[in-house]
Amino acid sequence: MSATMPTAAPVLAVDGLVKHFPVTRGLIRRKVIGMVRAVEGVSFDIARGETLALVGESGCGKSTTGRLVLRLMDPTAGSVRFKGSEIADLDKQSLRQLRRRMQIIFQDPYASLNPRMTVGEILIEPMAVHGLHTEAERAERARELLAVVGLLPEHARRYPHQFSGGQRQRIGIARALAVNPDLIVCDEPVSALDVSIQAQIVNLLQNLQRQFGLSYLFIAHDLAVVKHISDRVAVMYLGKLVEIASKRDLYDRPLHPYTQALLSAIPRPDPRVRKTRMLLAGDVPSPFAPPPGCRFNTRCPFAQDRCRREEPLLREAGNGHRVACHFYETIPAPVIAAADGPAAGKFAERLAAFEAAKQARTSLSY
Ligand SMILES: Nc1ncnc2c1ncn2[C@@H]1O[C@H](COP(=O)(O)OP(=O)(O)OP(=O)(O)O)[C@@H](O)[C@H]1O
Ligand code: SF4
Ligand SMILES: [Mg+2]
Repeated sequence: MSATMPTAAPVLAVDGLVKHFPVTRGLIRRKVIGMVRAVEGVSFDIARGETLALVGESGCGKSTTGRLVLRLMDPTAGSVRFKGSEIADLDKQSLRQLRRRMQIIFQDPYASLNPRMTVGEILIEPMAVHGLHTEAERAERARELLAVVGLLPEHARRYPHQFSGGQRQRIGIARALAVNPDLIVCDEPVSALDVSIQAQIVNLLQNLQRQFGLSYLFIAHDLAVVKHISDRVAVMYLGKLVEIASKRDLYDRPLHPYTQALLSAIPRPDPRVRKTRMLLAGDVPSPFAPPPGCRFNTRCPFAQDRCRREEPLLREAGNGHRVACHFYETIPAPVIAAADGPAAGKFAERLAAFEAAKQARTSLSY
């Protein structure tokens, strides 16, 4: 079985997920003047014990996808199956049960921790809400959870403001673990932290995953952050997945120009490795009025007429690696290679060949 295909029945199966937010005008008689197309037909699976990273620039729909998975909002269309059950079909009681199995960790732990509750109370609350354990057991489990995330039992008596950012994120993780979840949506859990603390939290999440068989949907806007934690990576642009692959395939052989641009923005510590920087021109277009055809065409250095007319579908490119680009087979691969390796220096050559081919195609079409 390929590394990109879940080996067992997936814990989570998302299919054709869509979320449109109405945009209104007028203070009293609010009139809907259009829709923000935040999520436009997103599909993916996550297996037990697997981490799928969801990466893309700000506003591309990552958090909305995470919230739809947890049913914190209703989708416009599409299906979310958790352990085989369609969550839209669940009654209130079953949805409450499910909420226990799926948890979320937020980017800003301070904003998500009640400042008037002690850490012990914060950890006990979700257990009480779901009717887990006796009162004494809950207090004991809260102390255990603190140890699991690298804090001390006496921290249970303190308040959130008495902790550093990294420690607060540990509390957020302990709170998510309190109810024994199967899946945790980690919505940019390290983005607000210093780089050294980021590594500690990522390591903690990996250790907990091994210990408890957790599955993660790990949201980030940067491919550098997810390199160590992900098994597979899904790249999102303006509400759509543009590429999904195993970590290895995605970092070694990025096929979509947007993924290539995101990867080329990561600084490389090894000076013997050189790469071509691919800068993205312009801002992300508005999801209120996404460009026709390929949504990336306004910023893609390889865009052609067809890209402005026809939307590329996510296609299989081998080994479970899927990409949504009409021309991925012919666009030049970026050079990410040892300076004296065989790929070095080939990029300019391939780009020139591509430009020539493009010219030939353009002149044929007139
Ligand atoms: N409740 C809402 N009402 C209206 N529009 C919304 C709502 N929530 C999100 N949006 C819009 O949907 C789009 C996607 O937002 P989302 O928060 O999912 O992006 P994101 O990828 O998580 O961005 P970031 O990296 O900044 O967190 C944005 O244009 C956002 O303004
Ligand atoms: S379909 Fe066209 S615009 Fe879109 S990524 Fe591919 S080459 Fe670029
Ligand atoms: Mg977000």
